[in-house]
Parts: sequence; structure tokens; C-alpha cells
Amino acid sequence: MNKPDMSIERKRDNNETEYYYENPITSNKYMDKKYFIRTYGCQMNVHDSEEIAGILENLGFIPTDNIEDANIIILNTCAVRENAHDKVFGFLGRCKHLKDTKKDLIICLCGCMAQEESVVNEIIEKYPYIDLVFGTHNIHKLPDYLLNLNGKQRIEVTSDDDSITEIDEYKRDSKYSAWVNIMYGCNKFCTYCIVPYTRGKEKSRKSKDILREVEKLVSEGYQEVTLLGQNVNAYGTDKNDEITFAELLEEVAKTGIPRLRFVTSHPWNFTDEMIDVIAKYDNIMPYIHLPLQSGSDRILRAMGRRYTKEEYLNLFNKMKERIPNVAITTDIIVGFPGETESDFEETLDVVNKCKYDGAFTFIFSPRDGTPAAKMIDETPREEKEERLHRLNELVNKYSNMNNQKYLNKVVPVLLTDISEKDNTKLAGYTDTFKLVNVDAPRECLGKIVNVKITDAKSFSLDGILDKK
Ligand code: SAH
Ligand code: SF4
Ligand code: F3S
Repeated sequence: MNKPDMSIERKRDNNETEYYYENPITSNKYMDKKYFIRTYGCQMNVHDSEEIAGILENLGFIPTDNIEDANIIILNTCAVRENAHDKVFGFLGRCKHLKDTKKDLIICLCGCMAQEESVVNEIIEKYPYIDLVFGTHNIHKLPDYLLNLNGKQRIEVTSDDDSITEIDEYKRDSKYSAWVNIMYGCNKFCTYCIVPYTRGKEKSRKSKDILREVEKLVSEGYQEVTLLGQNVNAYGTDKNDEITFAELLEEVAKTGIPRLRFVTSHPWNFTDEMIDVIAKYDNIMPYIHLPLQSGSDRILRAMGRRYTKEEYLNLFNKMKERIPNVAITTDIIVGFPGETESDFEETLDVVNKCKYDGAFTFIFSPRDGTPAAKMIDETPREEKEERLHRLNELVNKYSNMNNQKYLNKVVPVLLTDISEKDNTKLAGYTDTFKLVNVDAPRECLGKIVNVKITDAKSFSLDGILDKK
């Protein structure tokens, strides 16, 4: 195919070339117009928003933090639980109000909710003021959609396909710490989870593309890279000729990036090789997010998690033994259909044994189209809330206990932001991913500094620069 006039060329990882849209450089339709992005959900969405911001800036848009000033509002949505859903529809009300006073305001909805047929139908019926809906598989076509809006509502949700479009127009939120996608989608189909439906099947990026991206980030002075995937351990398994996640981690560590992290790993196929590589390289941070979901074998089976309580505990103990000073956090769901008090006590038992550094805890939320949404669920809401409360008390006790161990110690911290609590201070993370608010001058931003911990709370630490 010849390159059409006024178009942009993009490579796909299957070596095909695609051509899109009128050349944004020569189009001044959106020059100096302002964009506002509201992002819900996980790190995938946060990183997708960096891509969207990059695309918008290439079209001429400039960012604004003030929604009232915006010419375009993008809602990058999450569908993982009902409350994520409700927040978006709540926010849309506010957008409608803004659009009433500013007729040429463009409102776009994208992200995981856009991949839900029921949501798209609802938008067509009840939200005519949304100008554009686009899905998780076609973000890269956004310029085309925006340059060709014609006043009618446009719904552009494509289904998943086998290849990946390489993009390099991210407008990264941080100059020091970067997200790098290593794979897309999820094939695990845990029975409660909507992600495999909204994000499609597992697709690994080519390792050479990942390494090229990380090398570029290193040369730009980035101090930290976090490899992203819904289940990073599955990296490469969708291809015949790709390296494993353990090998990829090792290759990325060798680029010399000062700090390397990854999220999320599934306990099911976390190999010994992965543990060994994490232990071997000083620049792979001793921090693992290892979602448990439930401590009851019966519930784990109903969730389709593919491991037992004992297997989880064995893996956990192996990590603690082999990776010096490792911090482990988790995700837990309470009130899964059929969960009894004794199932729940199994979960508390795992929390007592693992004494997690932290945990995200959720009440089960039925998602349309998932098998768990059809399971009989007789536990009353109050009982689920009471379980969540008991779980949170225990989780907080242990995260506080773990944080207290840092008191008066000196630890390296990568300072990445102005502290949200006190704008005279900076904030950053220890190698074990503990948030620290540090009394340090602005020149320290982007540096890894030694910090003496002066106070420890359940969710953060306070510290001062260690002068020694
Ligand atoms: N890929 C990650 C999880 C992504 S979703 C993993 O497998 O670990 C983040 C968390 O949301 C999950 O770990 C789970 O604890 C929670 N979650 C997912 N679906 C949910 C649902 N239907 N109800 C309640 N919590 C849910
Ligand atoms: Fe959802 Fe399970 Fe995939 Fe995680 S591994 S994204 S919980 S289906
Ligand atoms: Fe939500 Fe989609 Fe992430 S459903 S958790 S934004 S993959």
C-alpha cells in the first residue's frame, strides 16, 4: 500500500505498515486547544492516558488541570467493580452541565467501560452529548477520529486482534519513573473478573521493542521503570520464539536502569527462575505484589485461581527466604458468592501468616458477563461489610508493624514528587515501595537519596535527608 497524502505511518509488530489520519502537523484544527483527562482504574489505564496525552499534544492540544477551561474532556474508564462504573456515570453528569454552556466542548469516553456492550448501548440511548467513544484496542487511531468528527456521536470500539501497534508518543507523567507495557490483555479468566473481556487476550510485546524503549528511557535519565501487564509472568507464552519473563527481567536489569519494578504477577506461574533473577540483581527492587484473593481452597477453586492456599504459602515463603528484605503486598476479595465464615477465616489465617506489607481489599462486585455474576450469593451485604472491616483491621495492623521496623533506619528513596501532604516536602518510594515524605530541597527531585526515617504510620513514612 502506498503512503496516502497527509497520513502518518505506523509499524505493527507483524511487520505490516498502517496508515492513519490526516497529518496532525499540517492540521491546525486543535492548535492551542486545551485537554483534560480523568483516569480511573489501574496502571494500564494510567499509562494509556499517557499515550492519549501524547497523541493530543501532537494534534496541537495543551494540557489543563481545570476542567472548566477544557475544549476536550477524556474519561478513561475502569469496569473492574461497580463503584468504578458509578463514578464515571456520576462524572458524566458534570460534563453534561459544562457542555450546556460550551457547545463545542468535545467529550470522549474510552477505557475498559467502552469495551462493554451494555455501556455502549446505554451511551447511545441516554448520553447523546458524548461525542466519541473509543475502546482499549484502538487508542492509536484517536487522531483519525478527532480530525474527522462531524457533529454526530461516533462509536469506535474495535475487537481484539493478534498484533500490537508500537507507539512512541507518550506524554509521561513523570520525568523520573516510567511505565513500560510488556504485554496486553489477560487469559486467566478468573470467574469474577471483567478484565479478559475488556482488554482481550494475552499479547506480548517483542522483547527487542521493550528493550529499545527501556534503553531510550535510561539515556533520557529515567531512574525507574515499571514493567506492566495484568499477569507479567505469562510474558512470552503467547509466542513460540519469545524469551520468558525471567529472561526479560534479566535483560532489562542489564540496561542499567537504576530501579526496575513490575506489576502484576499471578501466584500461579511464578517460577523459581523469576525469584532467582529478582534476588540476583540489585536494581530489581525487592517488592512483589502477589494477589491472594482468598485463603479458602474452595473459594479459590470457584474463582478459577489455579492455586491452593498451601501452594500460595509455599511460594510466599520461598520469596521471603530467597529475596533479601522483600516486601510483599496483595489483593483480597471478601464476600465471593458462597463464601462462609469459615472460608473467610482461612483468608484471615493467610493474612496472619504472611503479615503483608499492605493489601488492597474489596467486596465482591458482580460484573455482567462473568461466570461469578451468575453464582448464588446469599451472604447479606452487612455481613460482607463486617468481614471487610475485620480484614482491614488485621491488614492495617501488619502494615503498621512492618512500617515501624523502618524507624530510625537509613534507606535509599527515589524522590519523584512534591509531597501531597506538605508542599515544602518531597515524596518518593523506598526500594520496598514504601511511600516516604521527606524534608528535602527541590534539587533532590529525581534523585535516589539516603533518608533517615523519623516517623512510621500505617500507610506512609516520614524522613529527613541523612547527612552522613
Ligand atoms: N491482574 C491482576 C488484577 C487486576 S484487577 C491480578 O490478577 O492480580 C485488580 C484487583 O481487583 C484484583 O486483584 C481483585 O482483587 C479485584 N477485583 C477484580 N474483579 C473484582 C470483582 N468483580 N469484585 C471485586 N474485586 C475485584
Ligand atoms: Fe482478572 Fe484474573 Fe486476569 Fe487478574 S489474572 S486480570 S484477576 S482474570
Ligand atoms: Fe479497570 Fe480495565 Fe484496569 S477494568 S483495573 S482499568 S484493566
